[in-house]
Amino acid sequence: MPSDTLTVIDNRTGKSYEIPITDSSIRAKDLRQIKTSEDEYGLLSYDPGFTNTASCRSKITFIDGDRGILNYRGYPIEELAEKSTYLETAYLILNGDLPNRTQLDEWVHNIKHHTLLHENIKKLIDGFRYDAHPMGMLLSIVGALSTFYPEAKNIFDTQPRREQIFRLIAKMPTIAAFCYRHSVGLPFAYPDNDLSYTGNFLNMLFKMTELKYRPHAVLERALEVLFILHADHEQNCSTNVMRSTGSSHPDPYAAIAAATAALYGPLHGGANEAVLRMLGQIGCKKNVPDFIQKVKRGEGRLMGFGHRIYKSYDPRARIIKQMADQVFGVMGRNPLLDIALELERIALEDDYFISRRLYPNVDFYSGLIYQSMKIPVDMFPVMFAIPRTCGWLTQWEEMLLDSEQKIARPRQIYVGPSRRSYISLEERS
Ligand code: CMC
Repeated sequence: MPSDTLTVIDNRTGKSYEIPITDSSIRAKDLRQIKTSEDEYGLLSYDPGFTNTASCRSKITFIDGDRGILNYRGYPIEELAEKSTYLETAYLILNGDLPNRTQLDEWVHNIKHHTLLHENIKKLIDGFRYDAHPMGMLLSIVGALSTFYPEAKNIFDTQPRREQIFRLIAKMPTIAAFCYRHSVGLPFAYPDNDLSYTGNFLNMLFKMTELKYRPHAVLERALEVLFILHADHEQNCSTNVMRSTGSSHPDPYAAIAAATAALYGPLHGGANEAVLRMLGQIGCKKNVPDFIQKVKRGEGRLMGFGHRIYKSYDPRARIIKQMADQVFGVMGRNPLLDIALELERIALEDDYFISRRLYPNVDFYSGLIYQSMKIPVDMFPVMFAIPRTCGWLTQWEEMLLDSEQKIARPRQIYVGPSRRSYISLEERS
């Protein structure tokens, strides 16, 4: 008997089925042959939240959640964070290999020459109220870009597809910075293509009246590292939305708007914002034990803790924690750090968190760094969306070119009323 199969005996009928196992998985469709009568649909797998369902075969990002390993295209995140730049890592993620010098120069040139926004976008931004949340603005504006590039609909033509990838990676920081400038009533600062990707982003955020903005090297590098850490994370909620939306074949601006919306929530990319608000509410170190008790009673979550895949320390959180000291060295120590460290110390000794294998995730310390860099709290999820754009686009392209993929359309188990007849309004009690 071959060992790479699963034998299933349906106790309703006594029938036995051989189901092939490939890459430690079975095809859900192979379950359909299991039925009690010919006119039945067949067995479904039920998996709310997709906790045990693979939706694709992917070559992009590898995570081992038990051992805290994260690799992009085989390269460990620790090495990329130490040695690479965000744009080089983005090239790696998109193309599968690190670029040589010519490829890198061409790639950086292509990104830098798409950083400007159509001037009409400024009118769109002006329409938002001064206190509009920047994530709401970002997802609206990136969706609106769809109307500026009608050729983006040609998603199966390599050239226009690549062109939109350049545009999206290039323009997300510009949109984000313009949203910030709108919220604080400052004139928009245009891109400076002499600067690096992150240096230019700092320029668009913080340039005042000086002729040339010069980013602080430590802050510029810190942002590079944070962007590298956020570039991709396999089939998370927003990436699943990107693939799912993309599977009906809209242009990538529409799909990125949908993915940005998915990232907005506090359980996903909005967690970094939620962490900062939580630390502010706790207020001081001595209130930490009470707060932990509340979490254990089910009165709220410890934001920035826990992960669907990581059941050990998130490797990204480890790198961010180390980097925080460098940023604090320049900008001064964030006073909320002491509360965060105390929360981590107590939580990691507490059986509630130990038994559920809840550890700090990427969002636990990133907000403290962003806050020290004078980036407002409601911009934090936007700081996640900018670098994740490269991951979303890579996953989208992989999905489009995968002949096994179809429009995403899960099944349901219907548990509502069975067929009944309409009752006129007068007859209803
Ligand atoms: N604080 C307190 N309890 C928690 C937490 C937390 N942060 N996370 C999970 N739990 C408990 C949860 O109540 C449940 O307990 P029980 O078994 O007694 O019901 C158990 O741990 C398992 O939780 P779950 O909700 O079934 O786990 P999940 O895999 O569905 O959720 C998560 C993963 C990230 C949504 C969740 O851990 C969470 O809400 N964390 C806080 C929000 C956060 O930091 N999100 C950022 C995630 S990392 C970056 C990203 O992906 O965007």
